[in-house]
Formats: sequence, structure tokens, C-alpha cells
Amino acid sequence: MSRATTDKPRTVKHPTVKDQPLFIDGRFVDSVSGKTFPAINPATGGTICQVAEADKADVDLAVKAARKALETGPWSKMDAADRGRLLFKLADLVEKDAEELAALESLNSGKTITDARGDLQGVVNTLRYYGGWADKIEGRTVPVRGSFLSYTLRQPVGVVGQIIPWNFPLLMLAWKWGPALACGNTVVMKLAEQTPITGMRVAELALEAGFPNGVLNVLNGYGETAGAALVVHPGVDKIAFTGHVETAKIIQKAAADTLKRVTFELGGKSPNVIFADADMEQAVAGAFHAIYFHGGQCCTAGSRLFVEEKIHKEFVGRLAEKAKKRKLGDPLDASTEQGPQVSQEQLDKILGYVDLGQKQGANLLTGGARFGEKGFFVEPTIFDGVKDDMAIAKDEIFGPVVSVLSFKGIEEVIQRANSTSYGLAAAIWTKDIDKAHLFARQVKAGTVWVNCYHIVDTTTPFGGFKMSGQGRENGEAALEHYTEVKTVTVKLG
Ligand code: NAI
Ligand code: MG
Repeated sequence: MSRATTDKPRTVKHPTVKDQPLFIDGRFVDSVSGKTFPAINPATGGTICQVAEADKADVDLAVKAARKALETGPWSKMDAADRGRLLFKLADLVEKDAEELAALESLNSGKTITDARGDLQGVVNTLRYYGGWADKIEGRTVPVRGSFLSYTLRQPVGVVGQIIPWNFPLLMLAWKWGPALACGNTVVMKLAEQTPITGMRVAELALEAGFPNGVLNVLNGYGETAGAALVVHPGVDKIAFTGHVETAKIIQKAAADTLKRVTFELGGKSPNVIFADADMEQAVAGAFHAIYFHGGQCCTAGSRLFVEEKIHKEFVGRLAEKAKKRKLGDPLDASTEQGPQVSQEQLDKILGYVDLGQKQGANLLTGGARFGEKGFFVEPTIFDGVKDDMAIAKDEIFGPVVSVLSFKGIEEVIQRANSTSYGLAAAIWTKDIDKAHLFARQVKAGTVWVNCYHIVDTTTPFGGFKMSGQGRENGEAALEHYTEVKTVTVKLG
């Protein structure tokens, strides 16, 4: 694999990539079956490299290694502060190789090099943040009745299976490794089949940082095979998953037999509400960023854009102007603003919704087509005149497609914002603090933004109401989901 750059040019050369192994018990190995699958470059549709394909047998080896590391390895006896130091070390190594990792992330996921650089900073921040937590996870002494001393210990849940998607490959890895490792768990992670490269590179760095063998295991493979095997494995205590709602339902059912703990970070159809009293320029830029950041491939994408009736026409006009100017192209070119969607499957899904939106009577204002002949690019798309019951107002499209709806008042828009099965994020743009706080209180969403969008920091809890998830990631909140609380009671005298 190429060390990308030493002089950090803003546009990077296309990295060349070696074939990818699996990482089990501190070693890079082929899959038991010897099978491989291709990693695809979404900007061209071409193959980047071959990737070892894990299945049940590899999952079993990884889980055994993780269990051994949890119960008898050096990790099980390590001081919490030393676990923290390993996370700091890993953060330093990622930071040192951030340019190389950003280039690989951009190549494989299609995100722009600028966005990839931003993700890498998030990865470093997250690993450091949780490194800091490692020796601050405390129990309590409890004023129990009778002549006893009762106290609580917070211990690792155990072997954690982590299944991540392709939209933020390294950031999702960090969000899941950080709290799991701070709390002393061991990990078997399955990367997304679309983005199997960068996680394996970070596994190399984890080895260099000095994590004991078996603490971190990283697999590639398909969801229905490797992912499913991890979910049903009796040696796994918890599954942490980010992805589609329908996949989460399958996982929750499959996890029932072993009563595994599950946490889910799922999709959304997040309402972004613009009032007439908002700063027009900022709100247009905010609504634009809300939907088109990373080509709409964000669980928090502001895909339901509610605009107050009296500014509707002007607002949508300005948004369309910006959309038409967006520069699509090679994600490794620093001047590119939007790269390709991640896969043919996503391209087809998005164009399917564009068709459906038109059939159901929405007004396709701009975009709506594939861009270029190769790769999986989609033009920034705006549907105006959307009604609440249209598919494009209800379903997660996960592409650069915004549905614009009109509203008249606060009560009405809160009620409509909440009439969805999702509840991940919501935003309001207004100068009226009464409206802002009323909305923040009443909207059913795990994250609410006022006059901003997509501000997600490792320090703040992140997750969904309703079918957008279970549990929270980031912040102190994540630690709850990676520890078991034990009560110890001692008879006194
Ligand atoms: P997905 O939910 O199928 O895949 C996410 C991860 O789960 C991947 O690692 C996959 O291999 C694994 N997986 C799939 N089926 C599994 C199973 N039966 N058991 C265990 N693991 C399994 O999502 P996909 O197909 O990549 O994207 C489909 C849609 O999901 C997108 O269009 C988008 O709407 C949504 N999505 C939401 C994300 C989010 O950030 N919340 C991220 C990615 C996708
Ligand atoms: Mg899927």
C-alpha cells in the first residue's frame, strides 16, 4: 500500500492498494475458505483490490480470540489508565497517517478528499476522547439498608460484535472502538462490504500501538453471511450496529436466542424547518449542506425540508441555483464538492425514488439524473410541492434528493415533523428563541440543531428516537452501553 504523500498537497494521487486480508488474533490472515470479493471504486466502477471474504468459520476464530483476550489475556489484567494510553497511541498513529488514510477513504467510499480529511480529524478526536474516559469509569457506594456495605462495579459487557456501514467507514469504526475499548471489552468488527480497506489499515496501526492480540479483530464479508454469523454467535455478548432499519430488525430477532445486548444507530427522514424570520442566506446554505453533504449519504441528512409558506418561492429558487452549480467529479480532486454514491445498488435506489416522486406528482425542480457515464454519480436533486404522504417524504432515500414541503405555523410543522417512524435528527432555522426552544422540546429526535446542521461531536450523545435506533453513541452516554453494572454487598461486623 502506498504511503500517500509527504508534502500534503490538497489534491492527492490515487493510492494503489494491495489485496486485503482479515485481522484475527493479532495476525493478518486469509479467510478459511480462501474466498475473496472485489473492493469497488465508486467513481469508476472499477476494482481497487481483492478482499478476503470472512464467513462463519472466520467469525468463529475471531470470537474465540476475542474471548481469550477478554478472559485470560493481558488485556483482562491491564490497568484502566494503560487501556487509555493505548487509545491515545492509536490516535497519534492515525493522526500521523491521516493523509494516507483520507486518500484511501476517499478512493473507496467516494467521499471528497476534503470530507475524508474532516472524518479523520473526527476519528482522532474520538479515540482521544475515549482514551481519556478509560480511567474515569467509576461505580458508586450505595446507602443500602442494614449493616452492609454495597457498592457497584462497572465491568465490560464482554466480547462485542460491531457491524458498520460504508458512509463513514473510519468514523464509525472509531465511534465503536472508542467506548468499547475504554470500558475494557474486546471487539470483533465487521466492516461494510463496500468499504473494506481503511479499517484493515487501522488494524495495522492498532497492532503497532500495542493492543494485545485478540482485543481487536477486523473482518470483511457480507452481511447475510459474516454479519449474520456474528449476530448469532453464542460467544458474543453484544452487537452494536449502524445501518438500515430493516437490517436492525433482522439482527434484533436473530440476537433474541442468545439475548445479546443490542444497540442500533439507524436511518432517518430528518425534518429541517425554515421559518421566514431566519437569516435567509445562512438558512439556504444550511439547508444545502443538510441534504447534499456527502451526497446525502448521511443518517442525519435533512431530507424533509419544511419552508414557511411566505418565503417558500424565494428560498427554493436560491437552493436550486446553488444545486445547479455544485461541482461533481473525482473525489480525490480537492476542487470536487460531491463525489459518487457508494454503489450501483445505491444509484439504482436513488433513481428509483426520483421516478416514484414524479409518478406521485411532486415537481422535479432540478437534477434527477445520473451524472456522467461511469461511476455512480447523481445530480443534486430538488423536489418541490411534496406532500407528506408521498414516498419521497417518508422513505430514507440516502442520496442527494431533497423533498421540499410548505408550512404555515409552528404547531402544524411540529406535528408534521413528528409524523414519521424515524427520529434521528431535526433542525430549525429562526431568530425567535421561543419557537426554537418549543421545537427543540417537542420534536421527537435524538439530535436537534438550531440555526446549524450536521454538527456532531464525539462529546455529545448521538442516537435515535423511535425507529432510528436504540441506545446512544458518543459522549458519556456510550459508556453505559459498553458496561454491565455489578452490585457487591459486604456484611459489616
Ligand atoms: P445494511 O444495513 O444492509 O448494511 C450495513 C451493515 O450491516 C453492513 O456491514 C452489512 O454487511 C451488514 N449487514 C447486512 N445484512 C446483515 C445481516 N442480515 N446480519 C448482520 N449484518 C448485516 O445497509 P446497506 O444495504 O449498505 O444500505 C441500505 C440502506 O441502509 C441505505 O440506502 C440507507 O438507507 C441505509 N443505511 C443507513 C446508514 C446509517 O448511517 N444509519 C448507513 C448505511 C446504510
Ligand atoms: Mg443491505
